[in-house]
Amino acid sequence: MSAALTHRPVILGIETSCDETAAAVVVEGVRVRSNVISSQIELHRNHGGVVPELAARGQITAITPVIEAAMEEANVSASDIDAIAVTHGPGLAGSLLVGVNAAKALAMSWDVPLIPINHLEAHVYANWLRSEGDERQPPKLPAVALLVSGGHTALILMESHESSTLLGETLDDAAGEAFDKGARLLGLGYPGGPAIQRVAEDGDGTAIPLPRSLLDGSLDFSFSGLKTALLRHAQEWREPDAPRDLPEGTVFPPHFPPAFREGFPVADFAASFEEAIVDVLATKAELALERTDAASLVLAGGVAANRALRSRLVERVGERFGRDGPSVSWPDLLFCTDNAAMIAGLARHRTPLHGDDAWELDAYPRLAFGADAVT
Ligand code: KG4
Ligand code: ZN
Repeated sequence: MSAALTHRPVILGIETSCDETAAAVVVEGVRVRSNVISSQIELHRNHGGVVPELAARGQITAITPVIEAAMEEANVSASDIDAIAVTHGPGLAGSLLVGVNAAKALAMSWDVPLIPINHLEAHVYANWLRSEGDERQPPKLPAVALLVSGGHTALILMESHESSTLLGETLDDAAGEAFDKGARLLGLGYPGGPAIQRVAEDGDGTAIPLPRSLLDGSLDFSFSGLKTALLRHAQEWREPDAPRDLPEGTVFPPHFPPAFREGFPVADFAASFEEAIVDVLATKAELALERTDAASLVLAGGVAANRALRSRLVERVGERFGRDGPSVSWPDLLFCTDNAAMIAGLARHRTPLHGDDAWELDAYPRLAFGADAVT
Protein backbone atom coordinates (compact mmCIF):
# COMPACT_ATOMS: atom_id res chain seq x y z
CA MET A 1 0.00 0.00 0.00
CA SER A 2 1.36 3.45 -0.88
CA ALA A 3 1.04 6.73 1.02
CA ALA A 4 -1.43 9.53 0.32
CA LEU A 5 -1.10 11.25 -3.08
CA THR A 6 1.61 13.90 -2.81
CA HIS A 7 1.23 16.22 -5.83
CA ARG A 8 -1.84 18.45 -6.41
CA PRO A 9 -4.35 15.67 -6.99
CA VAL A 10 -7.60 16.11 -8.87
CA ILE A 11 -10.02 13.73 -7.15
CA LEU A 12 -13.51 12.65 -8.18
CA GLY A 13 -15.64 11.95 -5.08
CA ILE A 14 -18.79 9.82 -4.97
CA GLU A 15 -21.30 9.80 -2.09
CA THR A 16 -24.35 7.53 -1.92
CA SER A 17 -24.66 6.63 1.77
CA CYS A 18 -28.32 7.55 2.22
CA ASP A 19 -30.86 9.36 0.05
CA GLU A 20 -28.59 11.80 -1.76
CA THR A 21 -26.63 10.84 -4.87
CA ALA A 22 -23.63 13.12 -5.12
CA ALA A 23 -20.43 13.52 -7.12
CA ALA A 24 -17.79 16.26 -6.98
CA VAL A 25 -14.35 17.15 -8.27
CA VAL A 26 -11.93 18.67 -5.74
CA VAL A 27 -8.36 19.81 -6.36
CA GLU A 28 -5.65 19.52 -3.73
CA GLY A 29 -8.11 18.59 -1.01
CA VAL A 30 -9.67 22.05 -0.70
CA ARG A 31 -10.68 23.67 -3.99
CA VAL A 32 -14.16 22.53 -5.02
CA ARG A 33 -14.42 22.52 -8.81
CA SER A 34 -17.88 20.93 -8.94
CA ASN A 35 -20.42 19.68 -6.44
CA VAL A 36 -23.50 17.93 -7.87
CA ILE A 37 -26.25 16.58 -5.62
CA SER A 38 -29.40 14.77 -6.63
CA SER A 39 -31.78 14.64 -3.69
CA GLN A 40 -34.60 12.17 -3.12
CA ILE A 41 -36.38 14.36 -0.56
CA GLU A 42 -39.55 14.44 -2.66
CA LEU A 43 -39.51 10.65 -2.97
CA HIS A 44 -39.33 10.13 0.80
CA ARG A 45 -41.47 13.07 1.92
CA ASN A 46 -44.68 11.05 1.54
CA HIS A 47 -43.30 8.46 3.92
CA GLY A 48 -42.07 10.91 6.57
CA GLY A 49 -38.53 9.51 6.33
CA VAL A 50 -36.10 7.53 4.22
CA VAL A 51 -37.28 4.14 2.93
CA PRO A 52 -34.08 2.08 2.32
CA GLU A 53 -35.33 0.10 -0.70
CA LEU A 54 -36.55 3.24 -2.45
CA ALA A 55 -33.30 5.01 -1.60
CA ALA A 56 -31.15 2.28 -3.20
CA ARG A 57 -33.30 2.23 -6.33
CA GLY A 58 -33.09 6.02 -6.56
CA GLN A 59 -29.30 5.82 -6.29
CA ILE A 60 -29.10 3.42 -9.23
CA THR A 61 -30.98 5.74 -11.57
CA ALA A 62 -29.16 8.89 -10.46
CA ILE A 63 -25.54 7.75 -10.19
CA THR A 64 -24.38 7.92 -13.83
CA PRO A 65 -25.94 11.30 -14.72
CA VAL A 66 -24.68 12.80 -11.45
CA ILE A 67 -21.08 11.69 -12.08
CA GLU A 68 -21.25 12.95 -15.67
CA ALA A 69 -22.60 16.30 -14.48
CA ALA A 70 -19.82 16.66 -11.88
CA MET A 71 -17.14 15.99 -14.51
CA GLU A 72 -18.74 18.41 -16.96
CA GLU A 73 -19.21 21.18 -14.39
CA ALA A 74 -15.55 20.87 -13.36
CA ASN A 75 -14.57 20.87 -17.01
CA VAL A 76 -12.42 17.77 -16.65
CA SER A 77 -12.20 14.46 -18.50
CA ALA A 78 -11.21 10.99 -17.32
CA SER A 79 -7.51 11.63 -18.08
CA ASP A 80 -7.46 14.58 -15.62
CA ILE A 81 -8.61 12.48 -12.66
CA ASP A 82 -5.85 11.17 -10.33
CA ALA A 83 -8.03 9.09 -8.01
CA ILE A 84 -11.63 8.21 -7.19
CA ALA A 85 -12.87 8.60 -3.63
CA VAL A 86 -16.02 6.92 -2.40
CA THR A 87 -17.99 6.68 0.84
CA HIS A 88 -17.76 3.08 2.07
CA GLY A 89 -19.65 3.66 5.32
CA PRO A 90 -21.53 4.21 7.49
CA GLY A 91 -24.95 4.33 5.81
CA LEU A 92 -27.62 2.20 4.20
CA ALA A 93 -26.13 -0.98 2.73
CA GLY A 94 -28.05 -0.89 -0.55
CA SER A 95 -27.29 2.78 -1.14
CA LEU A 96 -23.59 2.52 -0.22
CA LEU A 97 -23.09 -0.38 -2.60
CA VAL A 98 -24.27 1.65 -5.58
CA GLY A 99 -21.51 4.21 -5.02
CA VAL A 100 -18.83 1.66 -4.13
CA ASN A 101 -19.52 -0.39 -7.26
CA ALA A 102 -19.64 2.65 -9.53
CA ALA A 103 -16.35 3.90 -8.06
CA LYS A 104 -14.67 0.51 -8.50
CA ALA A 105 -15.79 0.26 -12.12
CA LEU A 106 -14.50 3.75 -12.93
CA ALA A 107 -11.21 3.26 -11.07
CA MET A 108 -10.62 0.10 -13.03
CA SER A 109 -11.51 1.47 -16.44
CA TRP A 110 -9.60 4.75 -15.92
CA ASP A 111 -6.69 2.95 -14.26
CA VAL A 112 -6.57 5.20 -11.19
CA PRO A 113 -6.49 4.32 -7.46
CA LEU A 114 -9.58 4.11 -5.27
CA ILE A 115 -9.79 5.88 -1.90
CA PRO A 116 -12.39 4.65 0.63
CA ILE A 117 -13.78 7.41 2.84
CA ASN A 118 -15.62 7.39 6.15
CA HIS A 119 -18.77 9.52 5.75
CA LEU A 120 -18.57 10.90 9.31
CA GLU A 121 -14.95 12.00 9.03
CA ALA A 122 -15.80 13.64 5.72
CA HIS A 123 -18.60 15.69 7.34
CA VAL A 124 -16.01 17.14 9.74
CA TYR A 125 -13.54 17.72 6.91
CA ALA A 126 -16.16 19.86 5.10
CA ASN A 127 -14.88 22.76 7.25
CA TRP A 128 -11.69 22.82 5.20
CA LEU A 129 -13.38 22.95 1.76
CA ARG A 130 -13.39 26.21 -0.16
CA SER A 131 -15.57 27.20 -3.13
CA GLU A 132 -14.25 29.51 -5.85
CA GLY A 133 -13.53 32.93 -4.34
CA ASP A 134 -13.77 31.79 -0.71
CA GLU A 135 -10.43 32.79 0.81
CA ARG A 136 -11.22 32.18 4.50
CA GLN A 137 -8.36 30.81 6.58
CA PRO A 138 -8.75 27.12 7.50
CA PRO A 139 -9.68 26.36 11.13
CA LYS A 140 -6.67 25.82 13.40
CA LEU A 141 -5.81 22.40 14.81
CA PRO A 142 -6.28 20.86 17.28
CA ALA A 143 -10.01 21.38 16.84
CA VAL A 144 -13.08 20.12 18.63
CA ALA A 145 -15.67 18.98 16.09
CA LEU A 146 -19.36 18.88 16.93
CA LEU A 147 -20.78 16.40 14.44
CA VAL A 148 -24.57 16.61 14.33
CA SER A 149 -26.35 14.74 11.54
CA GLY A 150 -29.44 12.62 11.00
CA GLY A 151 -27.66 9.48 12.15
CA HIS A 152 -24.92 10.77 14.46
CA THR A 153 -24.19 13.17 17.28
CA ALA A 154 -20.64 13.26 18.52
CA LEU A 155 -17.86 15.44 19.90
CA ILE A 156 -14.45 14.68 18.43
CA LEU A 157 -10.98 16.00 19.16
CA MET A 158 -9.11 16.39 15.86
CA GLU A 159 -5.37 16.49 16.35
CA SER A 160 -4.72 16.38 12.60
CA HIS A 161 -6.50 15.21 9.44
CA GLU A 162 -5.03 11.77 10.07
CA SER A 163 -5.71 11.44 13.77
CA SER A 164 -8.76 12.10 15.92
CA THR A 165 -10.32 10.90 19.17
CA LEU A 166 -13.99 10.44 20.00
CA LEU A 167 -14.83 12.46 23.14
CA GLY A 168 -18.51 11.59 23.42
CA GLU A 169 -21.53 10.52 21.39
CA THR A 170 -25.27 10.05 21.64
CA LEU A 171 -26.55 7.18 23.72
CA ASP A 172 -29.88 7.10 21.84
CA ASP A 173 -31.26 9.45 19.17
CA ALA A 174 -29.04 11.68 17.04
CA ALA A 175 -29.74 15.44 17.10
CA GLY A 176 -31.01 15.41 13.49
CA GLU A 177 -33.15 12.40 14.25
CA ALA A 178 -34.62 14.29 17.23
CA PHE A 179 -35.44 17.22 14.93
CA ASP A 180 -37.01 14.84 12.41
CA LYS A 181 -39.08 12.98 15.03
CA GLY A 182 -40.12 16.21 16.77
CA ALA A 183 -41.24 17.74 13.47
CA ARG A 184 -43.22 14.67 12.61
CA LEU A 185 -44.92 14.75 15.97
CA LEU A 186 -45.84 18.41 15.50
CA GLY A 187 -47.07 17.71 11.96
CA LEU A 188 -44.34 19.79 10.35
CA GLY A 189 -43.16 17.27 7.76
CA TYR A 190 -39.80 15.98 6.57
CA PRO A 191 -36.93 16.77 6.77
CA GLY A 192 -37.65 18.03 10.26
CA GLY A 193 -34.68 20.29 11.00
CA PRO A 194 -35.37 22.96 8.39
CA ALA A 195 -39.14 22.75 9.09
CA ILE A 196 -38.68 23.31 12.84
CA GLN A 197 -36.19 26.13 12.25
CA ARG A 198 -38.69 27.91 9.96
CA VAL A 199 -41.69 27.63 12.30
CA ALA A 200 -39.59 28.37 15.42
CA GLU A 201 -38.77 31.85 14.14
CA ASP A 202 -42.21 33.06 15.24
CA GLY A 203 -42.23 31.21 18.55
CA ASP A 204 -41.11 31.68 22.15
CA GLY A 205 -38.34 29.23 23.07
CA THR A 206 -39.19 29.42 26.76
CA ALA A 207 -42.92 28.74 26.39
CA ILE A 208 -42.93 24.96 26.80
CA PRO A 209 -40.86 23.55 29.68
CA LEU A 210 -38.72 20.81 28.10
CA PRO A 211 -35.90 18.89 29.83
CA ARG A 212 -32.16 19.09 29.09
CA SER A 213 -30.38 15.81 29.56
CA LEU A 214 -26.84 16.79 30.58
CA LEU A 215 -25.70 13.37 31.88
CA ASP A 216 -23.66 14.68 34.80
CA GLY A 217 -20.92 16.48 32.94
CA SER A 218 -20.20 13.62 30.53
CA LEU A 219 -19.60 14.49 26.87
CA ASP A 220 -22.21 11.97 25.75
CA PHE A 221 -25.70 13.01 24.64
CA SER A 222 -29.24 11.72 25.09
CA PHE A 223 -32.29 13.09 23.27
CA SER A 224 -34.93 10.41 23.78
CA GLY A 225 -36.30 11.98 27.00
CA LEU A 226 -36.77 15.29 25.22
CA LYS A 227 -38.80 13.64 22.49
CA THR A 228 -41.02 11.92 25.07
CA ALA A 229 -41.55 15.21 26.93
CA LEU A 230 -42.53 16.94 23.67
CA LEU A 231 -45.05 14.20 22.96
CA ARG A 232 -46.54 14.52 26.45
CA HIS A 233 -47.00 18.30 26.18
CA ALA A 234 -48.35 18.08 22.61
CA GLN A 235 -50.87 15.45 23.62
CA GLU A 236 -52.54 17.93 25.96
CA TRP A 237 -53.57 19.73 22.77
CA ARG A 238 -54.81 16.72 20.87
CA GLU A 239 -58.26 16.92 19.39
CA PRO A 240 -60.03 13.95 21.01
CA ASP A 241 -62.36 13.33 18.08
CA ALA A 242 -59.77 13.83 15.35
CA PRO A 243 -60.12 11.24 12.60
CA ARG A 244 -57.32 8.70 12.67
CA ASP A 245 -57.63 7.77 9.02
CA LEU A 246 -54.50 8.44 7.09
CA PRO A 247 -54.45 9.94 3.63
CA GLU A 248 -54.49 7.14 1.09
CA GLY A 249 -51.09 5.81 0.12
CA THR A 250 -49.17 7.13 3.15
CA VAL A 251 -47.50 4.99 5.75
CA PHE A 252 -47.22 7.50 8.57
CA PRO A 253 -47.76 6.30 12.11
CA PRO A 254 -51.18 7.23 13.53
CA HIS A 255 -50.02 10.50 15.12
CA PHE A 256 -49.66 11.99 11.65
CA PRO A 257 -51.21 14.21 10.54
CA PRO A 258 -51.58 15.35 14.12
CA ALA A 259 -54.93 16.87 14.83
CA PHE A 260 -54.57 19.52 17.50
CA ARG A 261 -57.23 21.75 19.04
CA GLU A 262 -57.59 25.22 17.66
CA GLY A 263 -55.00 27.63 19.04
CA PHE A 264 -52.27 24.94 19.29
CA PRO A 265 -49.12 27.08 19.70
CA VAL A 266 -47.05 25.21 17.13
CA ALA A 267 -44.45 28.00 16.83
CA ASP A 268 -43.84 27.95 20.61
CA PHE A 269 -43.55 24.17 20.54
CA ALA A 270 -41.04 24.30 17.66
CA ALA A 271 -39.03 27.11 19.27
CA SER A 272 -38.91 25.41 22.69
CA PHE A 273 -37.89 22.11 21.13
CA GLU A 274 -35.16 23.73 19.03
CA GLU A 275 -33.97 25.70 22.06
CA ALA A 276 -33.67 22.53 24.18
CA ILE A 277 -31.53 20.78 21.53
CA VAL A 278 -29.36 23.84 20.88
CA ASP A 279 -28.85 24.42 24.60
CA VAL A 280 -27.58 20.86 25.20
CA LEU A 281 -25.31 20.91 22.13
CA ALA A 282 -23.81 24.28 23.09
CA THR A 283 -23.27 23.28 26.74
CA LYS A 284 -21.43 20.10 25.78
CA ALA A 285 -19.35 21.79 23.06
CA GLU A 286 -18.23 24.42 25.57
CA LEU A 287 -17.31 21.66 28.03
CA ALA A 288 -15.28 19.84 25.36
CA LEU A 289 -13.34 23.03 24.57
CA GLU A 290 -12.61 23.57 28.26
CA ARG A 291 -11.31 20.04 28.67
CA THR A 292 -9.16 19.90 25.54
CA ASP A 293 -7.79 23.43 25.20
CA ALA A 294 -8.48 23.20 21.44
CA ALA A 295 -7.76 26.13 19.12
CA SER A 296 -11.10 25.95 17.31
CA LEU A 297 -14.59 24.55 17.30
CA VAL A 298 -15.93 23.26 13.99
CA LEU A 299 -19.51 22.24 13.29
CA ALA A 300 -20.40 19.40 10.94
CA GLY A 301 -23.36 17.44 9.58
CA GLY A 302 -26.84 18.47 8.49
CA VAL A 303 -27.79 20.08 11.82
CA ALA A 304 -24.80 22.43 11.41
CA ALA A 305 -27.12 24.26 9.01
CA ASN A 306 -29.21 25.37 12.00
CA ARG A 307 -28.98 29.12 12.51
CA ALA A 308 -29.90 29.10 16.21
CA LEU A 309 -27.15 26.55 16.91
CA ARG A 310 -24.54 28.59 15.06
CA SER A 311 -25.30 31.86 16.80
CA ARG A 312 -25.59 30.24 20.22
CA LEU A 313 -22.17 28.62 19.86
CA VAL A 314 -20.51 31.87 18.83
CA GLU A 315 -22.18 33.62 21.77
CA ARG A 316 -21.31 31.00 24.37
CA VAL A 317 -17.69 30.48 23.26
CA GLY A 318 -17.20 34.28 23.13
CA GLU A 319 -18.60 34.71 26.66
CA ARG A 320 -16.64 31.85 28.13
CA PHE A 321 -13.22 32.24 26.44
CA GLY A 322 -13.14 35.89 25.30
CA ARG A 323 -11.64 37.39 22.14
CA ASP A 324 -8.53 35.21 22.09
CA GLY A 325 -10.51 32.04 22.66
CA PRO A 326 -11.17 29.28 20.13
CA SER A 327 -12.64 30.28 16.74
CA VAL A 328 -16.07 28.89 15.85
CA SER A 329 -16.81 27.92 12.25
CA TRP A 330 -19.02 25.79 10.09
CA PRO A 331 -18.91 24.64 6.47
CA ASP A 332 -20.58 26.46 3.60
CA LEU A 333 -24.27 25.57 3.69
CA LEU A 334 -23.71 23.51 0.53
CA PHE A 335 -21.23 21.30 2.37
CA CYS A 336 -23.21 20.83 5.62
CA THR A 337 -25.67 18.23 4.38
CA ASP A 338 -24.61 15.15 2.42
CA ASN A 339 -22.34 15.98 -0.51
CA ALA A 340 -19.40 14.47 -2.38
CA ALA A 341 -17.01 17.43 -2.18
CA MET A 342 -16.30 16.46 1.43
CA ILE A 343 -15.50 12.92 0.24
CA ALA A 344 -13.14 14.06 -2.54
CA GLY A 345 -11.53 16.61 -0.19
CA LEU A 346 -10.73 14.28 2.68
CA ALA A 347 -9.36 11.72 0.20
CA ARG A 348 -6.29 13.97 -0.15
CA HIS A 349 -5.33 12.82 3.36
CA ARG A 350 -6.11 9.11 2.99
CA THR A 351 -4.27 6.19 1.48
CA PRO A 352 -5.19 5.14 -2.08
CA LEU A 353 -5.91 1.48 -2.82
CA HIS A 354 -4.57 -0.16 -5.95
CA GLY A 355 -5.30 -3.35 -7.90
CA ASP A 356 -6.87 -6.17 -5.90
CA ASP A 357 -7.12 -4.03 -2.74
CA ALA A 358 -9.32 -1.61 -4.66
CA TRP A 359 -11.31 -4.34 -6.34
CA GLU A 360 -12.11 -5.97 -2.98
CA LEU A 361 -13.44 -2.80 -1.35
CA ASP A 362 -16.78 -3.42 0.34
CA ALA A 363 -19.50 -1.26 1.93
CA TYR A 364 -19.58 -1.01 5.75
CA PRO A 365 -23.03 0.17 6.91
CA ARG A 366 -21.92 0.42 10.57
CA LEU A 367 -18.43 1.84 10.08
CA ALA A 368 -17.45 3.79 13.23
CA PHE A 369 -15.79 7.21 13.43
CA GLY A 370 -12.03 6.84 13.17
CA ALA A 371 -12.29 3.16 12.27
CA ASP A 372 -10.31 3.75 9.09
CA ALA A 373 -8.66 7.05 9.92
CA VAL A 374 -5.26 5.66 8.94
CA THR A 375 -5.46 2.92 6.32
O1 KG4 B 1 -25.77 15.10 7.47
P1 KG4 B 1 -27.10 14.92 6.88
O2 KG4 B 1 -27.41 15.61 5.58
O3 KG4 B 1 -27.44 13.42 6.67
C1 KG4 B 1 -26.97 12.42 7.49
O4 KG4 B 1 -25.84 11.91 7.20
O5 KG4 B 1 -27.66 12.13 8.49
O6 KG4 B 1 -28.14 15.39 8.01
C2 KG4 B 1 -29.52 15.36 7.84
C3 KG4 B 1 -30.15 15.87 9.10
C4 KG4 B 1 -31.66 15.70 9.14
O7 KG4 B 1 -31.99 15.07 10.35
C5 KG4 B 1 -32.18 17.12 9.06
O8 KG4 B 1 -33.42 17.29 9.75
C6 KG4 B 1 -31.06 17.90 9.73
O9 KG4 B 1 -29.89 17.28 9.27
N1 KG4 B 1 -31.07 19.33 9.35
C7 KG4 B 1 -31.30 20.33 10.23
C8 KG4 B 1 -31.29 21.53 9.47
N2 KG4 B 1 -31.05 21.21 8.15
C9 KG4 B 1 -30.91 19.85 8.10
N3 KG4 B 1 -31.52 20.31 11.55
C10 KG4 B 1 -31.73 21.50 12.17
N4 KG4 B 1 -31.77 22.68 11.51
C11 KG4 B 1 -31.55 22.75 10.18
N5 KG4 B 1 -31.59 23.93 9.56
ZN1 ZN C 1 -24.37 12.75 6.39
